[in-house]
Amino acid sequence: MTTAPSTMRAIVLKGHGDIDANEYHEDWPAPQINSPDDVLIKVHACGMNNTDVNTRTGWYSKAVSEATSGDGYSKVDNEDPSWGGAPISFPRIQGADIVGTVVAIGSNSDPELIGKRVMADCWLRDWDNPDDKNSTGYFGSECDGGFAEYTKANRHNIQVVNSDLSHAELATFSCSYTTAENLLNRVGCKEGDCVLITGASGGVGSALIQLANRRGARTIALASESKHADVAKFNPTAILPRNPDNLSKALANAIGQETVSIVADIAGGEYFPTLLDALERGGRYGTSGAIAGPMVELDLRTLYLKDLTFHGCTITTTNVFPDLVRYIKNGEIKPALAATYPLEKFKEGQQAFIDKKHTGNIVITLD
Ligand SMILES: NC(=O)c1ccc[n+]([C@@H]2O[C@H](COP(=O)([O-])OP(=O)(O)OC[C@H]3O[C@@H](n4cnc5c(N)ncnc54)[C@H](OP(=O)(O)O)[C@@H]3O)[C@@H](O)[C@H]2O)c1
Repeated sequence: MTTAPSTMRAIVLKGHGDIDANEYHEDWPAPQINSPDDVLIKVHACGMNNTDVNTRTGWYSKAVSEATSGDGYSKVDNEDPSWGGAPISFPRIQGADIVGTVVAIGSNSDPELIGKRVMADCWLRDWDNPDDKNSTGYFGSECDGGFAEYTKANRHNIQVVNSDLSHAELATFSCSYTTAENLLNRVGCKEGDCVLITGASGGVGSALIQLANRRGARTIALASESKHADVAKFNPTAILPRNPDNLSKALANAIGQETVSIVADIAGGEYFPTLLDALERGGRYGTSGAIAGPMVELDLRTLYLKDLTFHGCTITTTNVFPDLVRYIKNGEIKPALAATYPLEKFKEGQQAFIDKKHTGNIVITLD
């Protein structure tokens, strides 16, 4: 069994703040095996996610009602609750979407695991009761994550991935695709459904297109027009601008009908009532994000008179990550890697991620 060196390079967050709160260190203490279920991983690549930014800025605090931004919120301090309702413990190494090689294991793991390339399920669980949503945490939030040379995961969280995809390509999947697949499970997406997808150029949105297509549904992507050529590579049935002025007419022109059976929304904000108007009677709305703003206007008459069903979708069921790894191994979904940045250029990478000129995801590399 090899062990990690005692120190490593890492991006460390010591409190909420703006992008400069991400500190680059060359001699940060490296994780060590100290439980039989621990697996030590040499990180090759780690994908970026909005949760890194939202946690850093303090956006999950109920004190904040604006759309997400890369700036720290002065009204939030380190005691404010994060996504799960409790404050984050600092210092923290963020980064959920790790791809790396196992270099050491605790006594409960199979020695065959050493040297294998793995991805991690981002959801930390009580593995004696893995379906208990109250005992969950997120990799890189409630424990240290992958913006570092080494990280540590529970053996139940990792899966060996045999694939021709590069480390960076594989690091685009875990957070976005498990979120998208979970949302599609929750809204019961199946063949014959017609799914309207917001933020379709992003990580979760591009995953929603591919995973809904995989189920035989039709997909309508809402995305900035400058990104339509890239979004077309995910094969949606139709692509519309981000917030069409007349959505029912735009849908009729694109797919021959004014309504859809499912809205898969990661944006929220001011356009939310228009999205609900586009749902057919009995339609299903699923949300996993609110990048355009968490405060929305809901006309309850729309909800009850149209017999709509709402699903808030965050914590995945335990089957979702193994299902995702199977789709990757079978080549059923393709990665959308927009750019890579080495760890020492982390801030440049995160600024590009915040600027949102890209399609797909941006990944930090460590090799
Ligand atoms: N619940 C969970 O577990 C979970 C997991 C992952 C992500 N999320 C959340 O889901 C959201 C999307 O995540 P992501 O990884 O897909 O993000 P992303 O890769 O940054 O993509 C978001 C997309 O939303 C669009 N967008 C940005 N600002 C917008 C606005 N004001 N109005 C409408 N659209 C806007 C942009 O596309 P265009 O420029 O093409 O419009 C962008 O590509 C984030 O809020 C994130 O925090 C939640």
